[in-house]
Amino acid sequence: MATIATTNLWGGPAKADADAKPKLRVALIGCGGISGVHIDGWKRLNPAAKIVACADPIEARRHQRGDELGLAKEVRFPYLKDLLKSGVEFDAVDICANNAAHCPVTVEALNARKHVMVEKPMACTPAEVRKMIAARNRAKNNILMCAQSARFQNNSLHLAEYLKKGVLGEVYYCRAQFLRRRYLPTRIGFIDRRISGGGPCIDVGVHMLDLALLLMGLPEPVTVSAITPQKLAKRNDIRGWWGEWDRKKITVEDFAVGFVRFKNGSALTLECSWLANIKEQETQKITLMGTEAGAEWPELTIHGERAGSTTDTHLKYPDDQLGGHQREIAFYADAIMNNKPSPVPAEQSLNVIRILDGLYRSHAAGKEVRV
Ligand SMILES: NC(=O)c1ccc[n+]([C@@H]2O[C@H](COP(=O)([O-])OP(=O)(O)OC[C@H]3O[C@@H](n4cnc5c(N)ncnc54)[C@H](O)[C@@H]3O)[C@@H](O)[C@H]2O)c1
Repeated sequence: MATIATTNLWGGPAKADADAKPKLRVALIGCGGISGVHIDGWKRLNPAAKIVACADPIEARRHQRGDELGLAKEVRFPYLKDLLKSGVEFDAVDICANNAAHCPVTVEALNARKHVMVEKPMACTPAEVRKMIAARNRAKNNILMCAQSARFQNNSLHLAEYLKKGVLGEVYYCRAQFLRRRYLPTRIGFIDRRISGGGPCIDVGVHMLDLALLLMGLPEPVTVSAITPQKLAKRNDIRGWWGEWDRKKITVEDFAVGFVRFKNGSALTLECSWLANIKEQETQKITLMGTEAGAEWPELTIHGERAGSTTDTHLKYPDDQLGGHQREIAFYADAIMNNKPSPVPAEQSLNVIRILDGLYRSHAAGKEVRV
């Protein structure tokens, strides 16, 4: 992980300077739920960086976000292709469209020599991620980054930095969990596999897997064994705390557990669910076991032994009150404006998607698969 983005990028809270000329001009592609959080991140960078156009095929959504951003009606478009045709000048895109659009929109943007940050999951399949990497390689000097927001939380950055000193020794096992009791995202873009690419695995498991791999030191995955069943999601007697979803249209799993083997002999298990009969409403947890010590995220505790006693240490760090999304946007802008490498190299995201794809393939095949 790169050092924390330079604070001079931060303009503090949004300022009323609609006329200031930004150094970095960004187009927001996809104006649904998560784009509102991204807008907050971009407003904090104003005037160094600014959203200058937006696109969404749903008219009401692009106008809602356009209004929030104070954008003229002429710079609100259905699709990126319309924006590119319009001649409106911009340098980078922030892609908040549904998962199935991640690959085609990224390739289109890179072909037009724009920098790309794309929401997680990077794409639905490894083949799509490889297409995106090929487009980045053709574009040469453009950033391609997946918005893995959990990496950019303060606690994640702090633990990643701390672990670089090798305090855990050899990390031979990691358990990653993102389990929800009754929180199933009800929108069609999450429950129809053709649009989402998968269920909780690709929606929330992707956060824990990406962070777990980073904390393990980015080992190379070799095989995956998993089940990714749909157990509760079609049942009418099961209630979701985010409301109702279309039982007929849900084609994704509601639970997944996978066992991943790495080239260096280490292993990881990943558990994720939207609907599980568990005590907690939601659990996000990573446990690392090493030969010298273990670590727990998000608590940031280190568990070892010294002079005949087991020890438990609680890491403390300065808290700037920024969320993962706000900081990932600052890292993206910083990388573009200061010619730094991608804060989330696409090759790391490819490994994440190779593993998630492996979970689905292993379930279908009923056996361990190579990734
Ligand atoms: N990091 C996180 O914590 C987090 C949280 C929620 C969602 N997400 C991700 O953000 C993305 C969007 O999620 P959401 O909750 O905002 O979904 P959403 O369904 O609310 O919004 C998606 C929007 O994208 C638009 N869209 C679809 N194809 C498009 C295209 N080709 N060009 C432009 N717009 C297009 C849709 O019309 C819709 O308005 C997903 O990839 C999701 O996984 C990330």
